[in-house]
Amino acid sequence: MTTGDLLRVTADDAELAVEVRGGGSGAAPILFIHGFPFDRSMWRHQLATLPRWRRIAPDLRGAGASSAPARGYSMARYAADLVRVLDVLELRQAVMCGLSMGGYILFELLRRHPERVRAAVFCNTKAEADSADAKRGRDEMAALAEREGAAAVADRLLPRLLAPATFATQPEVEAQVRAMIMGTPVPGLVGALLAMRDRPDSTATLGAIHVPVLVVAGGDDPIAPPVGMRAMAQAIAGAQFVRIPAAAHLTPLEQPRAMSRALGDFLAGLG
Ligand code: MLT
Repeated sequence: MTTGDLLRVTADDAELAVEVRGGGSGAAPILFIHGFPFDRSMWRHQLATLPRWRRIAPDLRGAGASSAPARGYSMARYAADLVRVLDVLELRQAVMCGLSMGGYILFELLRRHPERVRAAVFCNTKAEADSADAKRGRDEMAALAEREGAAAVADRLLPRLLAPATFATQPEVEAQVRAMIMGTPVPGLVGALLAMRDRPDSTATLGAIHVPVLVVAGGDDPIAPPVGMRAMAQAIAGAQFVRIPAAAHLTPLEQPRAMSRALGDFLAGLG
């Protein structure tokens, strides 16, 4: 089951690739949940730092080095996969850190498995469900993926994912994001799009969260704008809010040091 630091975890009809770094020092481990259409490497800077904590980063079903079942994608399914990862690693709890779709999955975990969540970090995400327009957009994008493949999805999404400063000064980040999208199999793209289209509204969940929470916004994020993320933080009791400038939707890759610092400070405060 183990290849170096990469575990293979069977979760129902999928096989998940899970990267595990560090033994930790008794503090709760961190489980990183990537967004759409990315993979665990979007957390590569955070996985390479934070040595006091055990870091766990799965590729979700349909992404990266995990298998891509033809159907059956939902926020509940993704959440169940992550609980399976914790079970295989014999972990009762983890600090869960989710970006965008990873945040939607984290809401699901908080509703269905609150006892597994030691603390929550929401990056570049939102609590609201899709509007009717957004749902139509998901269907169009799924049709595009089926018709033209991942390259067309990358061309459509990329302009909104990164900040102008990132495009101008960090071409390697643009290249990595394109590679992650290109590496996502079409069933994984379509499955995630339909799962996001059908995800429940999580605004009522905000007031029911009773674990420590950090909310991280990218200052230039057009997909999860900082103003909405600040309002989300205000709706969660005791939540901390950090806005990171010169980042759009991929704050952990665009501004890795600021992101890792915010995360490290939050984790240190958990004791
Ligand atoms: C993501 O990064 O996971 C997506 O932008 C989420 C979304 O499209 O709603």
